[in-house]
Amino acid sequence: MNTLTHFASPQLPLLHRGKVRDSLRAPSGDRLIIVTDRLSAFDSVLETAIPHKGAVLNGLANFWFEKTGHIIPNHVIKLIDANAMLVKEAAPIKVEMVVRQYLTGSMWRGYQAGQRTFSGVTVPDGLTKNQAFPQAIVTPTTKEESDREITPENLVSEGWVTKELYDQMAVKAQMLFAVGSQLLAEKGIILVDTKYEFGLLNGKLILIDEMHTPDSSRFWSAGDYARNPETAEQMDKEYVRQWLIANKKDGQYPRALTPEVAQEASRRYLDIYERIVGEPLPTAETGAADAPHTGRQDARARMQANLVAAGLIKDAWVNIVLGSPTDKEHAEKIRQQLEGYDVFTQLRVASAYQGDEASANMVEVWNNSIEPGVIIAVAGLSNGLGGALAATVNVPVISCPPYKDYAELALNLNSSVIMPSGTPSLTVVRPDNAAQAALRALNIPRLRERLSKDILATKAKLKAADEELRVL
Ligand SMILES: Nc1ncnc2c1ncn2[C@@H]1O[C@H](COP(=O)(O)OP(=O)(O)O)[C@@H](O)[C@H]1O
Ligand SMILES: [Mg+2]
Repeated sequence: MNTLTHFASPQLPLLHRGKVRDSLRAPSGDRLIIVTDRLSAFDSVLETAIPHKGAVLNGLANFWFEKTGHIIPNHVIKLIDANAMLVKEAAPIKVEMVVRQYLTGSMWRGYQAGQRTFSGVTVPDGLTKNQAFPQAIVTPTTKEESDREITPENLVSEGWVTKELYDQMAVKAQMLFAVGSQLLAEKGIILVDTKYEFGLLNGKLILIDEMHTPDSSRFWSAGDYARNPETAEQMDKEYVRQWLIANKKDGQYPRALTPEVAQEASRRYLDIYERIVGEPLPTAETGAADAPHTGRQDARARMQANLVAAGLIKDAWVNIVLGSPTDKEHAEKIRQQLEGYDVFTQLRVASAYQGDEASANMVEVWNNSIEPGVIIAVAGLSNGLGGALAATVNVPVISCPPYKDYAELALNLNSSVIMPSGTPSLTVVRPDNAAQAALRALNIPRLRERLSKDILATKAKLKAADEELRVL
């Protein structure tokens, strides 16, 4: 199934992996948000991804940010891909501005238990489940390990935000909610509640995070609500939730969905997108081309191409991994040979035997990178590094052991060349050849053309030398 469940690249440092979105640092210092197809239900992420869910959420957020730029500036720089948005990095205000028009969800549970004041807002007795409030109310929470309801006064006294900023945020939140509710009402959708996040950019308040998406909001079908307010359910997720409940075994929800359920969930997300935006999300199935906002067959290939086109990544990487920083000079020799090929190169230090978190993170990124890559292992003496890497990573590993003279090389080469089974490391002795071998291992069309030219140029040089020498 064509889904995007995880994003990694050695070229983009990971800032945060949330339940659904992965945030990375772009070379410009901006933030790249990847909206994956992961679905979280009952507080955990399911093993099955929902085709097009990420594109639906990303596309909807983009749609709403565009629609509301006149109310407040937002963080969007550019929609890079159906599943990716480049945004400005703000200093986030650690407050979730929750706006509610209906008594439902956690608030309804609190109400049933006798609670009447929510984040400083008091509601009357005698309300029923899913009943509308006369006006939308703002019930902020802190953004911490577990979010907590808090009054605006306490948000200020505890130092989460200043009074001036809070007041601005409350006004903007209400205005955004009004625009959202009205537009959705025209499409037969009720904006039940949602949350906004704000940040400061050059001292100015801007809107960040996502906006009016099914993950940050509750949508009800107006038709369902009219038929019976108390049974109105979230348009997007309720179908999956009901299936999980119906298939509970030994008190546990299933971790995965059947292909049919995932497909139906996907259809529902696409349907919500189409209802809101007014036209279908262009996907491979609808015969769309490979523009950033479309979903071509291979989501990863499309993402890679769009990130390269936006100048956010090179189309391939070579990581030169050192067993010890003392091998830096040798590694630099390899790196120099890679210059001019427009490949991302990087030196890393990792011990073969550490098995620590830092190494595990490196391996995770190498193994899941969106773009192709090759590792060159630089470790002398008895080389355990190349083998250890080859046993753990799914990209080619080339060992290029440093040596001070041929005697040392002769003594130690066996440890690189003769490897136990399951450790497919290749050994190349000369740094220049190791670099060339890495370029060949990448095996991408652009580099193959370039290498063909290099080879012809070398041959031409040799031919010229021959002609020059033989007349002597
Ligand atoms: N433009 C931005 N600048 C700085 N932080 C941002 C920006 N947009 C979103 N964030 C923050 O990035 C984080 C995104 O986390 P998210 O993907 O929602 O995962 P989760 O909430 O599941 O941890 C949030 O803490 C949000 O406040
Ligand atoms: Mg979040």
